[in-house]
Amino acid sequence: MTTLREAIVNGFTGKRIAIIGDLVADQFLGGTISRVSREAPVFILRHDETVTLPGAAANAAANVASLGGTPIPIGVVGSDDNGTRLTDALTRSGVDCSTILTDRAATTTTKVRVLAGQHYAARQQVIRIDYEGGPELSLETRKKLSLSLAAVADTLDAIIVSDYGYGAVFDEIFAEARSIAQLRSIPLVLDSRYRLSSFVGATAATPNCEEAENIVGKNFNDNNGASLRERLGCEALLVTNGNKGMSLYTSDAEPRHIDAVGSPEPVDVTGAGDTVIATFALGLASGMNFADAATIANHAGGIVVMKKRTATVTSAELLTSLDAAVAAH
Ligand SMILES: Nc1ncnc2c1ncn2[C@@H]1O[C@H](COP(=O)(O)OP(=O)(O)OP(=O)(O)O)[C@@H](O)[C@H]1O
Ligand SMILES: [Mg+2]
Repeated sequence: MTTLREAIVNGFTGKRIAIIGDLVADQFLGGTISRVSREAPVFILRHDETVTLPGAAANAAANVASLGGTPIPIGVVGSDDNGTRLTDALTRSGVDCSTILTDRAATTTTKVRVLAGQHYAARQQVIRIDYEGGPELSLETRKKLSLSLAAVADTLDAIIVSDYGYGAVFDEIFAEARSIAQLRSIPLVLDSRYRLSSFVGATAATPNCEEAENIVGKNFNDNNGASLRERLGCEALLVTNGNKGMSLYTSDAEPRHIDAVGSPEPVDVTGAGDTVIATFALGLASGMNFADAATIANHAGGIVVMKKRTATVTSAELLTSLDAAVAAH
């Protein structure tokens, strides 16, 4: 515990983590239901506010920053309003956006959650509207992304690959990330919504249970976990499973099941996986073993699901949650 504390307090600060991936604008459009429309049998939502927050790889970057690390986002936004809103939100979160590419041909991937409420009642999500960028980036844009990665390679303490299927993670850049990680002996941590099995040889992967089942079949169990880890050529496979916590598979230890922490009633589970990969990668970059890094990532996930909207976690919150767990035992 003492060493875990030390690693969080001293080890995270200034660790340079490249996040190669799909930068998404998570938008929350809130309004009040005023009356029923005369045009159609629907409610009319009177707009109150629209908030844009870093989503997907951008959320992983924001979490690295909130934990004291130095994120280096390698990805693309479109030359549009949502791209500006997203980089503004990242900047407010303490992320330096100078490595982000603005691509005139691209649309900033934006996920709009429409939240409807009434006076004195909590807002509820009614629908989500997605504006999808990708899936293909031009050859020129991909080359620029590779160059951005190469330019920072020598300075990195870890690399995160966060692939949501919108084009920023392509085979060549993954291979480049893997070479850098091998050459410099730094961890490479992978998340891929649809193409996990295409990316072999990361240090670790952090799929959710559904993503793992898409490869190994339904009813995921420890045998599947062990064989998936081998198939992905990873030293560690960390399978997250929402309020059931997570399971860790490594070559040299028995499977390890980690119970979720915190309240059984989450406030908003959006982006918990991004917080997990950010915390796990920072843990590994600070010299933690896989089990310790997974333990703190589990706490980090449990903390952000108690916050509204896409959210970040701080080292202080992490320490409080770890202390509470120790006190409870
Ligand atoms: N309801 C919850 N209570 C406590 N912890 C939770 C809850 N939901 C998620 N977590 C924590 O967050 C981790 C990641 O959650 P989850 O498995 O939902 O990720 P995900 O599906 O990849 O999410 P994302 O939407 O970000 O892709 C879990 O392993 C757990 O540690
Ligand atoms: Mg996920």
